[in-house]
Amino acid sequence: MKPDRQTQRGLFISLEGGDGVGKSTQFDLLCRALEARGWPVFPVREPGGTPIGEKVRAMILDPANKEMAPAAEALLYAASRAQLVGERIRPALAQGKLVLADRYVDSSLVYQGHALGLGIEAVRGVNGFATGGLLPDLTLLLDADPDRAMHNLTSARPSDRIERRESAYRRQVRQGYLALAQADPRIKVIDAGRAIDDVHRDVLEGVLEFLKTRGRGVSS
Ligand code: TYD
Repeated sequence: MKPDRQTQRGLFISLEGGDGVGKSTQFDLLCRALEARGWPVFPVREPGGTPIGEKVRAMILDPANKEMAPAAEALLYAASRAQLVGERIRPALAQGKLVLADRYVDSSLVYQGHALGLGIEAVRGVNGFATGGLLPDLTLLLDADPDRAMHNLTSARPSDRIERRESAYRRQVRQGYLALAQADPRIKVIDAGRAIDDVHRDVLEGVLEFLKTRGRGVSS
């Protein structure tokens, strides 16, 4: 794939969704499907994705950190993201890569700004500073009933500090995501309450169609 002629950079796609909607499974399937088609995929995950970011991630998700202030939580996510953008995402884009992010700024807008009540605009401001204003070219939002989604998670592994929040918080997360998607054509909603293969087909189709609109329909 050649770098975008107009911007001389690659493309940036993020995957978003509430806990337990199958986002990580879909992320892996998408990466593999695009790689199999010859795209120079560059996967990153949040929070974390760099040595410094992984330390921040451990601090944020540790269930022992019960007293963490909401603003501190939002700033830690933004700090991990700032590191990821500077160390990995911008260099990859400069090399014309197709960056795929498992969560990005929209997670903070929804989890901290909306559901935790810090205010979407306040969190947007902090993240604008952290990322230098870098946003994805396309975001796919996996949407599913949060209570059913959490049921999928419970047996798999012990829950982290964010996942331990109650059902009302998770419903706020879903509502926040859907409101963002309504306001921003960058975000496409995909029904994730279906079989893995059906969701994957729609995710892949959404990405391939987007790549076509950017003149990247045929990989090289
Ligand atoms: P993780 O184990 O990566 O979950 P997932 O597989 O669902 O992405 O943990 C990330 C948790 O952090 C998840 O509950 C969502 C939450 N989160 C925020 O609250 N704000 C953020 O900005 C990000 C990136 C994640």
